[in-house]
Amino acid sequence: MSRAFRDRPIRHKVNLLIVAASVIALIIAGIGVVVYDLTTLQPRALRDLVAQAALIRINTTAALAFQDQRAATENLATLKAKREIASATLYGPDGRIFATYARARGGPGIHNAAHPPAGHTYQNNRLTISEPVQNEGQQLGWLAMEYNLPPLWSRLPQYGIIVGVVFLALSTVSLLLWRLLESSITDPLARLAEASKAVAQSKDRQVRAVKRADDEIGHLTDAFNEMLSTLQARETDLRESTGQLLAAMTVARMGSWAWEVPRGTISWSGREVQVFGEKGKPADATLASFLELIHPTDRSVVEQGLWRAAETGQRCELDFRVLDPDGHVRWLAMRGQRTQDDGNQPAKVLGLVMDTTDRRRLEEQLLQSQKLEAIGRLAGGVAHDFNNLLTGILGYANFALKSLPENHAARVDIVEIERAGTRAAALTGQLLAYARRQMIAPKIVSLNELVGNLESLLRRLIGEDVDLETRCSRDLWRAQIDPGQFEQVIINLAVNARDAMPEGGRLTVETSNCTLDDSYVRQHPEVVAADYVMMAVADTGIGMDTATQIRIFEPFFTTKEQGKGTGLGLAVCYGIVKQAGGHLWVYSEPRRGTTFKVLLPRATEDLADAAAARPVDHPSSQGHETVLIVEDEQVVRRLAVRALTEQGYNVLEAEDGLAALEVAQGHSGELQLLVTDVVMPGMNGKELADRLVAERPELRVLYISGYAEHAVVRHGVLEEGIAFLSKPFDLAELGRTVREVLDKMQATG
Ligand SMILES: Nc1ncnc2c1ncn2[C@@H]1O[C@H](COP(=O)(O)OP(=O)(O)OP(=O)(O)O)[C@@H](O)[C@H]1O
Ligand SMILES: [Mg+2]
Repeated sequence: MSRAFRDRPIRHKVNLLIVAASVIALIIAGIGVVVYDLTTLQPRALRDLVAQAALIRINTTAALAFQDQRAATENLATLKAKREIASATLYGPDGRIFATYARARGGPGIHNAAHPPAGHTYQNNRLTISEPVQNEGQQLGWLAMEYNLPPLWSRLPQYGIIVGVVFLALSTVSLLLWRLLESSITDPLARLAEASKAVAQSKDRQVRAVKRADDEIGHLTDAFNEMLSTLQARETDLRESTGQLLAAMTVARMGSWAWEVPRGTISWSGREVQVFGEKGKPADATLASFLELIHPTDRSVVEQGLWRAAETGQRCELDFRVLDPDGHVRWLAMRGQRTQDDGNQPAKVLGLVMDTTDRRRLEEQLLQSQKLEAIGRLAGGVAHDFNNLLTGILGYANFALKSLPENHAARVDIVEIERAGTRAAALTGQLLAYARRQMIAPKIVSLNELVGNLESLLRRLIGEDVDLETRCSRDLWRAQIDPGQFEQVIINLAVNARDAMPEGGRLTVETSNCTLDDSYVRQHPEVVAADYVMMAVADTGIGMDTATQIRIFEPFFTTKEQGKGTGLGLAVCYGIVKQAGGHLWVYSEPRRGTTFKVLLPRATEDLADAAAARPVDHPSSQGHETVLIVEDEQVVRRLAVRALTEQGYNVLEAEDGLAALEVAQGHSGELQLLVTDVVMPGMNGKELADRLVAERPELRVLYISGYAEHAVVRHGVLEEGIAFLSKPFDLAELGRTVREVLDKMQATG
């Protein structure tokens, strides 16, 4: 079948086929007619001729018998009615011509003297017959006749009519057939084709083909519509899942990437903005231009990692930094693996990239606060033991001074011992402050007031080269903190600022209200979303690099030359602020100055002046009451026993809780006061006190400890009504406190 035909529309094909079939039918009909004509003409003519001859023989028998030539001629002349008979000749018994007839005058005829032999011959479209004329067995003569076979064309009009009728009938049938085919096949097919074209062009999967009949084309239409429905459902699913994936990637700040290794290009999903920042997306898509975005230090590692993944098929897990055009470092984590193309050649390395900057920052923050926590615990432990030792050193130095005469040479040395001991005690106090284990007396305060009170001190402290500016916000909320400790924070920050501005500058102390919301908390997990009172201490000094900033809150971290700084200033500030439930942050850049921000929770309720034990001047510390001293540290116990004995008290002693219970049981007289360490092996001071008070309800208790985190203290704040003396204490302080507790008993009891 020719291509031209094959590619024609079905409608045309059907038309052509119908026309061709009609023409072929016509031709076959024509040929059939001609063949029929030609095959039946001679026998028909012969039959006709034989019948005519029989008639003539019968009619001329009498004329021949009576030799009536006229009658014979007349008889022959009746053949005129038959156009096909060309001539007829009647021979007499003697064989001579008796009568003749010729249709055309002078036309062809049998005028031979002798009749042709019996039978028939066919020559030149002329049929000749020759027969004897007999009567009752007697031969009367001979008859010869000629028959003209008419030429085919003379019958053509007749056949033309037949073929015309056939043609008309065929045309009608074809037309009907064509209409039928068109309405049941070609039209539905065309509509189906149009529908699929519309779907392909408009991508509109809502389009459906209309079904007209329940035949094969109807089934095809159903299948087509079903296919569209499936396609539509699939596309919806695909769109949904793609949308979800993209949304999830956006939320996770992720993007996908693919490196076409042979072509050397890298492409990215549309999420670069999230990953690379607003301006940092890959400029063009070559590997080299991508590598340029990467921090120079990490560049070669990333390049090697990518090539290793391309060549060996290993997963690449790359964590690296990029510098966005604003100069900010962002951390990215890139994960990927190679896919192979058909030719087994490395085709693509593809995977995900995500921004891990925030996570890393949070991890660093967490690590840092865990580190500070651990150092704090260590410092607290050291300070605890130190306090016991210092109590001993200071106490015995005190005894020695008392017992030595005024002019004794050793006095100077002992005074030096006492001085060094006092400095060591101050240092231990700072360590405790850092470890958040200092005894504190929090109050509801206005930071504006505290700053105002300190202004003149600060001015003296920072010197003339540095300007001091205070900006106190009006309507400042109040905060809850130990005022003495907060002053220490301001002073430490101011001294650091002064040291950072050796050539002068400006120190700004600012206060304001500040509300941290959930979005902030997400960035700083250690923070609780709430109202805070903020104090910022900003200087225009030398600033710090990131490496320094990470370490400044560690105790003993200092960049100052030996003897200039202990490295405890900020550690103490940190401890104090944390103990108050607040936060301390630093913002600094080298040569651009430093700002410290202190955030303290907004105070909502009034706090009773819980922190009790403020020393009250007491004229006399002498006494006569019975006191039980319980302390596991021998140095401290002996010292206290000696000091109180010297002051006139009747002193009992025990080294731990169980021993103390025994001593108390063995003592039949009155027992007015229990002085006990809090942290002891076995039974702690609080349990001991509870048991003894149960037996002797009049007993008063004074706790001593170098450690503010135990049974009697909550977050450094003493429980109400509890008397407490923190180590190291000097002997005068011990005497004063004991007297105070006993006097209070007398007042209340
Ligand atoms: N305002 C500031 N500007 C620049 N660097 C500072 C500032 N404040 C603190 N630092 C840095 O932090 C380090 C630690 O400070 P910190 O107050 O803890 O200890 P110090 O000042 O060195 O010693 P100390 O306060 O115990 O005398 C300082 O040595 C200094 O390097
Ligand atoms: Mg300092």
